[in-house]
Amino acid sequence: MGNHQTIQSVRGMNDWGPVQSQQLQLIEQQAINVFAQANYLKTRLPILEQTELFSRGVGNATDIVEKELYSFADRNEQLLSLRPEGTAGLVRALIQNGWWQQGQVVRYQYLGPMFRRERPQKGRYRQFTQFGAEVFGGSQPIIDSELIQLSYEWFKRLGLNKNIKLHINTIGKLEDRKRYRAALIEYLQPFESQLDEDSQRRLQTNPLRILDSKIESTQQILQNAPKLKEFLSQESEEHFSQVLQCLETVGIEYHIDSHLVRGLDYYNDTVFEWVTDQLGSQGTVCGGGRYDGLVEELGGRTCPACGFAAGLERIEALLEVTSPAEESSQTDIYVICQHAKLSGVALKLSSQVRNLMPDIQVLCDSQLGSMKGQFKRADKSGAKIALIIGEEEYNAESVVIKPLRDERQQQLILLSNLNKILPTYFT
Ligand code: HAM
Repeated sequence: MGNHQTIQSVRGMNDWGPVQSQQLQLIEQQAINVFAQANYLKTRLPILEQTELFSRGVGNATDIVEKELYSFADRNEQLLSLRPEGTAGLVRALIQNGWWQQGQVVRYQYLGPMFRRERPQKGRYRQFTQFGAEVFGGSQPIIDSELIQLSYEWFKRLGLNKNIKLHINTIGKLEDRKRYRAALIEYLQPFESQLDEDSQRRLQTNPLRILDSKIESTQQILQNAPKLKEFLSQESEEHFSQVLQCLETVGIEYHIDSHLVRGLDYYNDTVFEWVTDQLGSQGTVCGGGRYDGLVEELGGRTCPACGFAAGLERIEALLEVTSPAEESSQTDIYVICQHAKLSGVALKLSSQVRNLMPDIQVLCDSQLGSMKGQFKRADKSGAKIALIIGEEEYNAESVVIKPLRDERQQQLILLSNLNKILPTYFT
């Protein structure tokens, strides 16, 4: 006997129905267009990678690698992980496939599911979708600014530019951060027992993340801590001020957030996030920054880089707040057939019409039965016209066009005239 208990989805991995899927597709399409217009080439990369890619790329001491990877040993004992983000995989592909040559600047975009075993809540899922854009081979501040500008343009096309705010910071070069790290540890050590549990753990492994802590008592201790700003090289300061200058020229407002450090290890200099206050605690819709050392870290040549990724489900949730989508049936033409034996003819006609007018939605009745029932369903579908095939029409190689939304009379036309007559109902 079978086991008839229902099966639930994996926690934090959601089903998105037709309305949200439609919205997500719109969001994706806008992103693809905005970035394709600026020469960001499309890529598709594997969801599974060797675990080492993320421990080396994203960083062993990050939450993402330490606690959130979905990992397993393959049958040959090779350790694999579902990708928690897209940057490390793209860098691997760049090196492996030679997608970058010295002296060039190349731009790439990607879109797809990412996996992190976080504690699920609204806006935080274990499977989510990122759209990302990455630029390789350029160290100029104009690149950082272009990425921010294009992401802004994307939000603008979605009508969301008034709902988000740019938080930006510079975290300097690796050497600057090393010196700062030592100073921060020295300052925090006497307070160790007063720090929250996460921060205590991070003190030796990843002390900069403590700056990001949401715990009030920890933030109070941090008030007199040395500031990263005091450790920045002049080069970093200049880079940052040029990024900001570019943003001012293109008219993008920003908020310098000196606590913004981001949760991945590969960054240097510019880091940024687009944040909204309309989604509760998961209000970061997009994050990114410069990562000049990652290509080399993963075995490639020295290659400066900068990029970002956005969580599409969060953008969708924001769209739902600002302009809720409605379930919309878009049937334009409803095909009715008098007898089941004419089913094939109805399918053939539907397909002819779809090919004739690719933007028109054609629904072929599939319950058949009485004409009355079919007309009821045609009416309910919202279609503008019905196409009716009966035996007589079929024998005469013709079809009836019946307007459903206005007073026009129905007319019998020859199938050979369909090309000319049908489009006139949709002009
Ligand atoms: P991230 O900040 O970890 O950066 O993720 C980018 C965005 O993905 C977040 O701002 C958020 O919108 C979305 N996201 C992250 N985790 C979740 C989750 N559990 N549920 C729903 N959405 C989520 C990166 O992944 C970097 N690779 C970005 C980057 C690209 N930096 C340089 N290039």
